[in-house]
Amino acid sequence: MTDSDNIQQPCTEMIILVTPEMANFSGRMHGGELLKILDRVAYTCASRYCGAYVVTISVDKVTFKQPIFIGELVTFLASVNYTGKTSLEVGIKVIAEDIKKRMVRHSNTSYFTMIAMDEEGNKVKVPPLIIKNDVQKDRFEKAKMRRLKRLETN
Ligand SMILES: CC(C)(COP(=O)(O)OP(=O)(O)OC[C@H]1O[C@@H](n2cnc3c(N)ncnc32)[C@H](O)[C@@H]1OP(=O)(O)O)[C@@H](O)C(=O)NCCC(=O)NCCS
Repeated sequence: MTDSDNIQQPCTEMIILVTPEMANFSGRMHGGELLKILDRVAYTCASRYCGAYVVTISVDKVTFKQPIFIGELVTFLASVNYTGKTSLEVGIKVIAEDIKKRMVRHSNTSYFTMIAMDEEGNKVKVPPLIIKNDVQKDRFEKAKMRRLKRLETN
């Protein structure tokens, strides 16, 4: 990584192995465990991008459509989709992987809105997202729509 790569990283990837203490008696990962990791991934992605402490102000829709089992790998692909003045949206795609069958499935996608804070707990400006390709452009536009909906129902 060069010095210039070291600033405003918009993406973060985290992979975890599901171990028995994360699961219930039927070997399925606890929903709360997944939520905890999602929040951690969102924090990591947002704070790394901003170079500041961040707090979660809202989470859009976490659904548990398919179970994730002990011994599977879970990959969290996080990206900064949108930046406002003090807020940013982090999208997280969750992919579960059965190692032995070499099969992956898209488990869930959720959106976290985070606010950047200074040491005194005051909101601070976030660095504006620099759109470099069509994928980022598309994510930005969709995130903008979600933001409007969130604020409508505030
Ligand atoms: C985060 C916090 C400091 C925001 O303070 P606030 O004065 O109410 O915020 P504002 O109304 O000025 O809005 C700040 C930003 O949040 C955005 N925002 C406000 N309500 C929102 C919502 N429901 N969903 C998404 N974004 C929202 C605003 O659009 C604004 O974005 P911008 O600066 O990019 O334009 C405050 O709500 C807080 O301390 N919340 C607790 C955070 C926390 O402890 N989280 C852990 C989970 S419990």
